[in-house]
Amino acid sequence: MSIITVCEYFWNMLTSYHMNTQQEENTIYVMRDGAIRTVVLNRPDRLNALNPDLLQGLVIELTKIAADAEVRVVVLTGSGEKSFVAGADIHSMNQLGARALADYLELGQRVMRMIETLKVPVIAAVNGFAFGGGLELALACDIILCKESAKLGQPEVDLAIIPGFGGTQRLIQRCGIGTARRLCYTGERLSATDAKALGVVDIVVADAEFQAEVARLSNLIASKAPLAVQSAKRVINRTGETLLLAGLRHEVEEFIQLFKTADREEGMDAFLQKRTPTFTGR
Ligand code: COA
Repeated sequence: MSIITVCEYFWNMLTSYHMNTQQEENTIYVMRDGAIRTVVLNRPDRLNALNPDLLQGLVIELTKIAADAEVRVVVLTGSGEKSFVAGADIHSMNQLGARALADYLELGQRVMRMIETLKVPVIAAVNGFAFGGGLELALACDIILCKESAKLGQPEVDLAIIPGFGGTQRLIQRCGIGTARRLCYTGERLSATDAKALGVVDIVVADAEFQAEVARLSNLIASKAPLAVQSAKRVINRTGETLLLAGLRHEVEEFIQLFKTADREEGMDAFLQKRTPTFTGR
C-alpha cells in the first residue's frame, strides 16, 4: 500500500466512524490525532453552507480547542467529496429580519476572528467548493491547501450583496487590492490553479494526493517547537491589524444597508428559484 492509500484509508475510516457515531443533526464533528484536531463542517445536503447552527457549533468547538494545551495544529475541512463550504446559507439568510441579520453577521465575523486569533495555526483543507463565506472561512485560516478540482470565489455580487465575514479585508491582506476588486466586482469562480496564481490560496495538490498532503503539512507543523510557531503566528497577525479591524466594521455596515435593497431580495429569490436575477439598482 502506498503512503497516499494508507492516509486515505485512515481518513475514510475516521470520517465514517464519526459519521456513524454522531447524531444526524450534528453540523460539526472533531477528529483527534495526537496534537492535531480536524474540525469537519457537516451539512452535506447544503454543501456545508454556514447557517447559524453551524457557526454556533464552531464557536463551541474552537473554544474547546483553545483551552486544550495538547493541540498544536487545527485542520478545517468540509464533509463529503464536493464542497468545503458553499457560502453563507442563502436559505436561512433570506428569512432574516434586521436584528437577526446583525446577529448573524456578528456571529460569522466572531468565528472568523476566533480562527484568526487561535494561538495555534489553522490549515484550511479546501476539499471542494469554497464560495462566499466558504472562501472567507479559508481566508481566516493560516494556510489554504486546496484540491486541484476545488473552485473558489466571492459570488455575493450575484445576490446583490458583498462578503460579510471579512472577505473584502482579508482578500486585500492576502493577495492585494487588485485581486480583491476583481473577485468582489465580478463574482468570478476560479479554479484552484488560477486561485494559486493570484495568491488567493497557498498550495494546490492533485485530488488523489490531497489527504496525504493535509497529513504531511499538519504533522510537519506539529513537529516544530510549539511556542515558536505560536509566537510567529502572533507576530505575523499583528501586521495591518488596526486597518483590518476598522475594515471589518465598515464591511458589516455596508452589508446591512445592501440587505434592505430590492436587488438583494431579487438576487436571493432568483438563487432559490434557480433562475437568473434581474437587477434594477434599487
Ligand atoms: N446556501 C444554502 N444552500 C446552498 C448554498 C448556499 N450558499 N449553496 C448550495 N446550496 C444548496 C442548494 O440550494 C441545493 O439545495 P436543494 O437540493 O434543496 O436545491 C443544494 O445545496 C445543492 O446545491 P446545487 O446548486 O444543486 O449543487 P450544484 O453542484 O449544482 O452547484 C454550487 C453547487 C456551489 C455551484 C451552487 O450551489 C452555488 O452556486 N451555490 C451558491 C454559492 C454562493 O453564492 N455562495 C455565496 C453565498 S453568500
